[in-house]
Amino acid sequence: MEKPTLNKPIIIIKDLMKSYGDNNVLNGFNMELNEGENLVIMGKSGSGKSVMIKCLIGLEEADSGSIEIMGKDIMALEQEEMDDLRTEIGFLFQGSALYDSMSVRENLEFPLRRHTKKFGIIEDTTPMVVTALKNVGLENAINLMPNELSGGMKRRIALARTLILQPKVILYDEPTTGLDPITSKEIIMLMQSVQEKYKTSSLIITHDVDCARVIANRMILLVDGINYAEGTFQELATSKDPKVQAFFK
Ligand SMILES: Nc1ncnc2c1ncn2[C@@H]1O[C@H](COP(=O)(O)OP(=O)(O)OP(=O)(O)O)[C@@H](O)[C@H]1O
Ligand SMILES: [Mg+2]
Repeated sequence: MEKPTLNKPIIIIKDLMKSYGDNNVLNGFNMELNEGENLVIMGKSGSGKSVMIKCLIGLEEADSGSIEIMGKDIMALEQEEMDDLRTEIGFLFQGSALYDSMSVRENLEFPLRRHTKKFGIIEDTTPMVVTALKNVGLENAINLMPNELSGGMKRRIALARTLILQPKVILYDEPTTGLDPITSKEIIMLMQSVQEKYKTSSLIITHDVDCARVIANRMILLVDGINYAEGTFQELATSKDPKVQAFFK
């Protein structure tokens, strides 16, 4: 799935550095996510992919560098401004992170109740909850509890919860990990249909080469804390660089 990316950047990361003690995780990572594109980041386990995404949404503070989201320098934002910006950024956690004590309906209502600025206070959330569930093909699951869902269903519900605030950007951390190949494929198709329907920009972190092949308009390989290589799937998959080749074996 390749298309020209002439659109303007919606996220710009420059020279991001982040260490934990003497573990230098990010050593000057650079990235631009353009409007409407699917950008895949690959990196081996422990390379700092989740740390990077956490810096992006303000769950971790970078040591230095800059992060601009929709023209705003997030390191300079007040808490309230950051909260507003977060309604434009959907984040699908590694795993699914549903609230186990809440039903599917309550899980989906949660962001609507928490971020009342974007849509105001909604008297009857049912139509929005049902639409979000329809988008992921699970409208019948509305009254189930998370422990009654399979792994793939949980992932879909988590995506529905992310979509309910109609974000401009979706960050996916390992959306297919732990799923069987068929369910993985379903999730990938869902990600594509969401992107076509809502014209979102997506940042997808994955180890899954098949996922990258299908969904990436462009890819970045995170190696040694930097954006080591960039290009289309085809360009990277045919690279002669051994560090790049290692990803495609
Ligand atoms: N809160 C933390 N405190 C200390 N070290 C941390 C913390 N979070 C992450 N790290 C370290 O940062 C490094 C990168 O972790 P990260 O979770 O970003 O890896 P990853 O690329 O997402 O790996 P995976 O593919 O397994 O999810 C690891 O060495 C990890 O131990
Ligand atoms: Mg991770």
